[in-house]
Amino acid sequence: MNEGSRTFHIVTYGCQMNKLDGQLVADRLRASGMTAADDPADADLVLYVTCSVRRHAEERVYSNVGKLKHRKRRRPELLIGILGCMAEKDREDIFRRLPHVDFICGPDHLHRIDDLVRRAAARAASGATADSHIAALSAPRGDRAPGTVDDHLEPFEAGRLTPVGEHPFHAYVRAMRGCDNFCAYCVVPYVRGPERSRPPHAVLHEIQRLVGQGVRHVTLLGQSVGSYERAENGRTWRLADLVRAAGATEGLVRLDFVTSHPKNLDDDILDCLASGPPVAPYLHLPAQSGSDAVLRAMNRGYTSADYRDKVARARRKVPGVAVASDFIVGFPGETEADFQATVSLVRDMGYSQVFAFKYSPRPGTDAARRQDDVPTQVKEDRLRRLLEAHQETALQAHAALVGHTLRCLITGPSRKPHLDPTANGPADTIQLASRSPGNRIVLFRGSRDLVGREVPVQIVRASAITLFGTLADR
Ligand code: 5AD
Ligand code: SF4
Repeated sequence: MNEGSRTFHIVTYGCQMNKLDGQLVADRLRASGMTAADDPADADLVLYVTCSVRRHAEERVYSNVGKLKHRKRRRPELLIGILGCMAEKDREDIFRRLPHVDFICGPDHLHRIDDLVRRAAARAASGATADSHIAALSAPRGDRAPGTVDDHLEPFEAGRLTPVGEHPFHAYVRAMRGCDNFCAYCVVPYVRGPERSRPPHAVLHEIQRLVGQGVRHVTLLGQSVGSYERAENGRTWRLADLVRAAGATEGLVRLDFVTSHPKNLDDDILDCLASGPPVAPYLHLPAQSGSDAVLRAMNRGYTSADYRDKVARARRKVPGVAVASDFIVGFPGETEADFQATVSLVRDMGYSQVFAFKYSPRPGTDAARRQDDVPTQVKEDRLRRLLEAHQETALQAHAALVGHTLRCLITGPSRKPHLDPTANGPADTIQLASRSPGNRIVLFRGSRDLVGREVPVQIVRASAITLFGTLADR
């Protein structure tokens, strides 16, 4: 057991990678005898798994952790740790802005959490001094040996006790760490370091174990997952090899992977997507912009036409593929005409989901050297207009699915039964929530014991966000 700290609470911000990191840390702490506290006010140890991708996410952490100052003064044995991307980005500055933080830990050092907590507890017990800060961080990128593998992280990765994902039958599994793309706006290559792929058999074992625990849907994770590459026993594995091998796992119903950079979307991976269950016809393929000038300035390595061709090819080869995308509005120099090119792209692509963000300058990135010249109000206006454009096409895309039968994985009782009050059914049925192969939300009536199964559902009605259906004959 950790000295002085018996209960912990973890607050997680940001992406799926962070959700997984938070879960692995929780499992490690449980394995050392600590218990999770639902309420941070009851916890002896409060940890923040942080995101640096936009300033807003960082400000929330500074503000929320700032509020713990008084509690820490009353109870010096309360331990506070900042984990993840902000630890790498802001480093010792965190202690200047938040002197009551006990330790910081970068995303590649989470396996050291027990040791950090132990040292922080000892320091707190001895009456902490400001100059004895505890930090586990990486050397700056340029100082690291190329081609590094970090197999020492494997025991931590494989040490998970609980499969946590988006629902009880879903789990995230890391395929790789880091990113080498250096998009001009993005801080990730600096805070999460160079690309390193996990050994394929470690990934496959983890999937087998999770499926043995009842997981039916696995999502492979990587910031640029299409760059996955790892040699094992004289053979080089790429993402398509990993997906094919993972797809053979007995009992696995659905397998997808995020996030794909358009540069890696080759025929091998498209064939893999077209191979059918358990591989889901789903691509998270961020375009970021529809303007060639902006794409060039972003260092994305493709034009709008290249991107359209990739999606057209994916749609030809993978029937019914759902494509989701991220966009940044208000990148330095983005004109109204550039923005209109982005709106056209969104109108033409028929995306299943669009995640749009206002550009936020990140210190140390190439784009941060340019003036952040699009006014906040214009960014907000563009964000709203882009999402509206997507809503219109989303409704059309969903309407086109009416009459079709989709294999849906039931995630649990619907949390929003009021959405479809007309769909009454026999008393022994409830409204169930499920996910289509393209990860769309589908609601329908059925018996509770179907939860966790994949069943055919005929779509009868559509809104921009949700599909409604009826259980079809098997
Ligand atoms: N400002 C705004 N959005 C950003 N993203 C990455 N960096 C920034 C930034 N500096 C967005 C991209 C990426 C998603 C995870 O976050 O769209 O795909
Ligand atoms: Fe945030 Fe990006 Fe780090 Fe994920 S990888 S936590 S989105 S900065």
